[in-house]
Amino acid sequence: METVVSGIRSTGNLHLGNYFGALKNFLRMQNEHNCYFFIADLHSLTTHPHPADLHKSVRNVLVEYLAAGLDPEKCTLYIQSDVPEISELYLILNMNAYKGELERVPSFKEKVRSQPNNVNAGLLTYPVLMTADIIIHKATKVPVGKDQEAHLEMARNLGNRFNNMYEVDFFPEPYAFNFGEQLVKVPGLDGKGKMSKSSGEHTAIFLTDDEATITKKMKRAVTDMSPTEANAPKPESIQNLFDLMQLVSSKETIAHFESTWKECSIRYGDMKMQIAKDMNSYIAPIRQRIKEVDADTEFIAKAVKIGEEKARASAAKTVREAKEIIGFRKFY
Ligand code: TRP
Repeated sequence: METVVSGIRSTGNLHLGNYFGALKNFLRMQNEHNCYFFIADLHSLTTHPHPADLHKSVRNVLVEYLAAGLDPEKCTLYIQSDVPEISELYLILNMNAYKGELERVPSFKEKVRSQPNNVNAGLLTYPVLMTADIIIHKATKVPVGKDQEAHLEMARNLGNRFNNMYEVDFFPEPYAFNFGEQLVKVPGLDGKGKMSKSSGEHTAIFLTDDEATITKKMKRAVTDMSPTEANAPKPESIQNLFDLMQLVSSKETIAHFESTWKECSIRYGDMKMQIAKDMNSYIAPIRQRIKEVDADTEFIAKAVKIGEEKARASAAKTVREAKEIIGFRKFY
């Protein structure tokens, strides 16, 4: 059993890309590993959110992850700012994190380019906070995509630097969880690329979308021209429809549309309505559960409290031991 940590960015409602790309893996992992999943609300302060917006988006994420099946009894699900030990470890790690190496992190360089008027110290030290998130539970596995590799390298470096400096074997090295071929591709509805909110809300299907919304969005999904010769290769937009179908439809349904493609008798309108119908059936129970959890303030409070307690117990132990190693000793 591995100790797993993953931070969830609190950005709006979850779409099928988030669901099949990350959440479904979390659901599996919580049964097999010692998992810590948290909402990264401290990280979000780099963009200076309005207090009411911050609270609402944290609550939103919490509701949707709980509704989708993250179980506070099976994993440790918590809010980052509920665990002050993370901030304390972050401060300690900052003493050995160097300006030069932080400035070279690709995500920082990207932010300098995209928001030159808000290059704050929190952005520069974002990887240090992320390191604290991970090593505070002595995690060895982090289920993140390729875009986070530089951050994980920083986590290994800073953990090793601590170990070397104090001649201890205290922090293990965290590595990305490699899902290998299990990584599913969830295309957007714009005919190209992955499903993402930044391509427009109409190109993504959210877990909260009702049947009418799903149907409307699927109707407008981009498609190419109809095939004119048998067994032709599929253009990207059509392959995308088949990829979406793969996620929510039955084998028989998929086989049916595959053969209509091969025979050039395919009707994209029919296929899109079939996907909409199957998507709706897939999402309906989750959508219903989101409504229930959203209304159950007591359940949410209980879940958060259990998570906070479990996360703090683990974090406090690490920080206590790290401080002793550093030379902070009690006088009483
Ligand atoms: N940086 C991650 C992202 O952008 C979020 C994150 C913050 C995280 N702290 C983490 C992920 C710790 C894994 C572990 O998605």
